[in-house]
Amino acid sequence: MNADLTSSLFDIQLVSTRLSDEERQRRMVAPGFGKTFSEHMIVIPYREGEGWLRGQLKPYGPISMSPAANVLHYGQSVFEGFKGYRQPDGGVKSFRPICNAKRFNTSAHRLAMPEIPEDLFCAAADLLATVDQAWIPEALDPEKLHDKSFYFRPFMIGQGEYLGVGSASECLFMIIGGPAGSYFSGGIHPVTIWVEEEYVRASPGGTGQAKCGGNYAASLLPGNLAKAKGCEQVLYLDAIHRQYLEELGGMNVFLVLEEGGRTVIATPEKTGTILEGVTRESLITLAKELGYELCERRISIDEVETAHREGRLKEAFACGTAAVISPIGTFKSRRGDWVVNGNQLGPISMELRGALLDIQYGLKPDTHGWMHRIV
Ligand code: COI
Repeated sequence: MNADLTSSLFDIQLVSTRLSDEERQRRMVAPGFGKTFSEHMIVIPYREGEGWLRGQLKPYGPISMSPAANVLHYGQSVFEGFKGYRQPDGGVKSFRPICNAKRFNTSAHRLAMPEIPEDLFCAAADLLATVDQAWIPEALDPEKLHDKSFYFRPFMIGQGEYLGVGSASECLFMIIGGPAGSYFSGGIHPVTIWVEEEYVRASPGGTGQAKCGGNYAASLLPGNLAKAKGCEQVLYLDAIHRQYLEELGGMNVFLVLEEGGRTVIATPEKTGTILEGVTRESLITLAKELGYELCERRISIDEVETAHREGRLKEAFACGTAAVISPIGTFKSRRGDWVVNGNQLGPISMELRGALLDIQYGLKPDTHGWMHRIV
């Protein structure tokens, strides 16, 4: 990365003693998801009237704030997630960080928070990954079942010291990150999904399109109820008709259907109430390139039930940055259980997963210019 740009934007304070290679390796062997963090973090304050202040790269650790900070009471917070991948030449590239920067700003706008310049967002992530590059796991296993990467978690919180309901006059943008393995414990396997007909995730005009903390907080109760029924994730339906598939709360959803003898990959269209996933969009592009008929449209839960009953629901999968592609083995609902593809990993789901991972890990040419070189 550009050293002049970095020094003009950030003060750098490194940890006094880095972890030993042995200790770092120990933490990186089976990192799981979101549990292991590298040794540094990025902090960039924002103050109304002054704009974005000078950033800092500093040792990873707790932050302090006023107990009257907006985020603690009114939940002014947005976040993103994207990954960096070790390349065959030993370097590191991240996947479409600019898309995450743009979506971050869409979320910030909806939450009445300041937008951050896209180049500052990307330079901050590059700096963290450059300083902590020893934390970026080594490539992919040959079966592509245990992808390991470096997960970047940029986020912004409303601070200031004021209990009136209003947008915060001070915000803090941060990036933390660390090595990440499979999102679901036990690695890639067909997941069981609860079709939620009571709780909704988002309604028109709400915050469904924003990646804000509150959306995830509201998903915890339905998520826990689903877990009690043996399901790992919840499939939300639209708020008005309680009929059309939306998303899984943290992931978008795709179905592979047989329609009139043709194989069609279908995903819910963008409605303003679902999160516009970068993985979703990338898979749409790749599926079309692989010659599949792909459609973005309204998909009703009645249609899924009928397709299952008629043997036309061939595969289903969830996708997102964290989980890449996770095949769905069973839909559970009040109407009954629908097992998909014999509860096995489906060939089309795995083909698409492989196609995306090949690009991310530099095993196939990046014809779309999706990869961003960091090191
Ligand atoms: C992602 O896969 O990008 C997500 O948003 C999941 C995350 C909330 C853990």
